[in-house]
Amino acid sequence: MADKIVIFGGSGFLGQRLVRLAAEKGYQVVSVSRKGAPIPAESWHTKVEWVKADVFVLKEWQMVLEDAEVVVDCIGILQQKKVAGITYAKFNVEVAQILASEAKEQKVPLFVYISAKRFIPIILKQYFESKQQAEKQVRCYYPEALIIRPSLFIGKERQGTQLLDRFIKLIRKLPFFSNFLSDFKPQTVETGAKDILGEITQKLVSLENRQT
Ligand SMILES: NC(=O)c1ccc[n+]([C@@H]2O[C@H](COP(=O)([O-])OP(=O)(O)OC[C@H]3O[C@@H](n4cnc5c(N)ncnc54)[C@H](OP(=O)(O)O)[C@@H]3O)[C@@H](O)[C@H]2O)c1
Repeated sequence: MADKIVIFGGSGFLGQRLVRLAAEKGYQVVSVSRKGAPIPAESWHTKVEWVKADVFVLKEWQMVLEDAEVVVDCIGILQQKKVAGITYAKFNVEVAQILASEAKEQKVPLFVYISAKRFIPIILKQYFESKQQAEKQVRCYYPEALIIRPSLFIGKERQGTQLLDRFIKLIRKLPFFSNFLSDFKPQTVETGAKDILGEITQKLVSLENRQT
């Protein structure tokens, strides 16, 4: 039987690519997000089970973890809206804690957390700190979690990302920035998703080999 992979935030910018690739690779794929399947509908959407649920309301999604081999946390925010209660503490740290804790409870073998690669220290300081805290939370439940730290994903529906990529390439040549940016490598969101799925597949194989 195909391995079941549950992707929280599977309708998002990265999540959609990951969900699609995983379904095309033959995984049994479940995406969990508040709005469900992305709009407009596309033919590949039928290969995925789209569950409409709020991550903070466990009873809406707990059942989908049954028999899952992998849980991926693709929920996260880059900008806080404190007045609306949208904070790093809630959407980056608490979500990771909730998902890792519930996945562990239900004995899901592999947990994958999409963190982020830090670059110039003063930029988005609180965002990166929240990602580090989230990683710590995840490690409490899954010491061997797969933690991915992408740089920037570039995609046509996020036009600003192409501009930012060009800007980074430009300032990387300056001595001051080259220190911080040598390891910061923007990639298309499609390539990013492919790399992540490759890492998930490899990790699953190594976990399975260990059991035999
Ligand atoms: N984009 C980048 O360049 C980049 C770079 C490095 C790291 N990352 C990390 O990668 C992850 C994904 O980023 P992204 O840009 O793909 O994010 P995104 O496009 O904003 O997607 C977020 C997803 O989370 C879902 N979601 C939000 N709140 C939810 C809730 N309460 N319950 C259930 N689902 C919820 C959204 O769907 P609904 O709104 O329908 O619920 C959506 O599917 C984040 O953790 C981010 O920090 C991104």
